Amino acid sequence: MSAENVIEEKKQGLALVTEARADNHKKLFIESYGCQMNLNDSEIVAAILADQGFNTTQKLEEADLVLVNTCSIRDKAEQTVRKRLQYYHKVKEVNPKMKVGVLGCMAERLKAKFLEEEKIVDLVVGPDAYRDLPNLIEEVEAGRDAVNVILSKEETYADVSPVRLNSNGVTAFVSIMRGCDNMCTFCVVPFTRGRERSRDPKSILSEIQELADKNFKEVTLLGQNVDSYLWYGGGLKKDFSKASGIAQATAVNFAQLLDMCAVNFPKMRFRFSTSNPQDMTLEVIHVMAKHKNICKYIHLPVQSGSDRMLQAMNRQHTRAEYVELVDNIYRIIPDIALSQDMIAGFCGETEEDHQQTLSLMDYVKYDFGFMFAYSERPGTPAAKKMEDDVPLEVKKRRLAEIIDLQQQHSLYRTQQHVGNIEEVLIEGTSKKSDAHYKGRNSQNTVVVFPKENYQIGDFVNVKIENCTSTTLIGKAVGHSDNN
Ligand code: SAH
Ligand code: F3S
Repeated sequence: MSAENVIEEKKQGLALVTEARADNHKKLFIESYGCQMNLNDSEIVAAILADQGFNTTQKLEEADLVLVNTCSIRDKAEQTVRKRLQYYHKVKEVNPKMKVGVLGCMAERLKAKFLEEEKIVDLVVGPDAYRDLPNLIEEVEAGRDAVNVILSKEETYADVSPVRLNSNGVTAFVSIMRGCDNMCTFCVVPFTRGRERSRDPKSILSEIQELADKNFKEVTLLGQNVDSYLWYGGGLKKDFSKASGIAQATAVNFAQLLDMCAVNFPKMRFRFSTSNPQDMTLEVIHVMAKHKNICKYIHLPVQSGSDRMLQAMNRQHTRAEYVELVDNIYRIIPDIALSQDMIAGFCGETEEDHQQTLSLMDYVKYDFGFMFAYSERPGTPAAKKMEDDVPLEVKKRRLAEIIDLQQQHSLYRTQQHVGNIEEVLIEGTSKKSDAHYKGRNSQNTVVVFPKENYQIGDFVNVKIENCTSTTLIGKAVGHSDNN
C-alpha cells in the first residue's frame, strides 16, 4: 500500500454488457469514479436508460451516449475527471453524433458551468435527477443543452432495479439510503448529495431477493451513514407481513434492517458501509454478533485521534467515546476487523494532534485504512471559516507516517489469521495467477489459494498458510456448510 496507491482516486471500472436487451439498439458507455455509491448509482442509471433503448458498451468509439459519474470529494478526484472529459471532447470531434454527460457530485457542485463556460458536455445531471434522464436526453437530441441538478428530500430510486455493471456475478451493492446530514466541516457530500433519506425496507428486501434469484452470494448495504438508517412506514403491518421481522415493526432502524436481511436470506452474506461512530449502536453490534451471515467487519472512519481536530471537523464524538465504542465492539465480537479513514493536515492540525492520531491507531490496530491529505473543498464550512494552514510538505509527511503505521498494523492483523481455517467466498481469478482464486474472508481480507475444482461463487474453507500485509495465502480444505 504505497502512498500513491492510497491517495489515488479509485476508478471503479468500465461497464460490461451484462444484461443486454435484444431489442435495444442505442449504446451507452458509462464510467464511474469515487465511492461505491457512485458505482451503484451508475447501475441505477443503466437501468433507467435500458428502458429508453440503451445497452451498455465497453467501446467508447461506438457509444451514442457517454456518461461519466463523477466524484468531488478531493481536488484530485475532480482533476482526474476533467482530464477524462477533455479526452471525450476529442473523441467527439471525430464522432459529433456522440453526446457526453456529467453525472453525480461534480455535476451538482459545478452545475451549468460545464455547459456555459466550458462547453465540453451536452448534459449535466445531479445524483437525485436520474429519473429525468429520458427527458434530458430528448432535449439533447433536439440540439439543446440539458441540465437538472435539483436535489430531493425523498428520492431513493427504490423501485429501480439496477443493471449490474462490471459484475463478478457473486457480490453486489444495494443502496439503503442517500445523502448525509452530518456536515463534517471538510466534506462536500452534504452539498452534492443532499439531505439524508432512507429507502423503504420492502424494496431493499425485494432487490436482495432478485440478487438471490440470480445466484449472487454477498450483498453490501450502502449509504454515506448507514447507522442512521430510519424508515417510518405507513401500513407496515398490512404490506410487509410476509417478510420475517417487518410484520410487527412500526419503524425500522439499521439494526432491525440488518436483522431482517440476515433472517430472510440465511444463505446470503451481508456487509455494510459506511458507519459513522456517533450513530453506531450496541444494538447493531449485537445483531452482527448474532448472525453468522453478517460479516465481521466494520468500516469506522474517525479522521483524527485529536479531540481538538474532531471538534473542528464537527465530528459529533470525542476520542474517548470512539475508544469506548471500539472497546465494546472488540468485547462483543472479538474476531471483528475494523478499518479507518484518516485525514492528515486538516486546518490548524499541530504535531501534537498528529501524534494523537498515531496513538489512536496504535490503540485500535486497524486491519485496513483509507488515508488522505486534507484537500480544501469550495463551499464547505472549513473552506468558508478556517484556514488551510498546514503546508503541503507537512501534510504529505504526516500522511506518509500514518500510511506507514497502518501498513505495520495491517501486517500484524493478517499474521493473526495464519494457521486458521476460514470461510472464503470465491469472487474470481487472482490478478497475479491464473491458477489461483481470490475471495474474501468474513473480515474482508483478500484470500488467495489454488483453484483445484472449486467454482466462482462457492463458499470454501481455506487453511491460511502465509500472508502479506494485504493478502492471506492458503489452500482450500473443502466446501463450507453455507453452499
Ligand atoms: N460517509 C462517507 C464518507 C465519504 S467521504 C462514506 O460513505 O464513506 C470518504 C472519506 O474521504 C472521508 O471519510 C474522509 O476521510 C475523506 N475526505 C472527505 N472529505 C475530504 C477532504 N476535503 N479532504 C481529504 N479527505 C476527505
Ligand atoms: Fe461527509 Fe461526514 Fe457525511 S465525512 S459523507 S459529512 S459523515
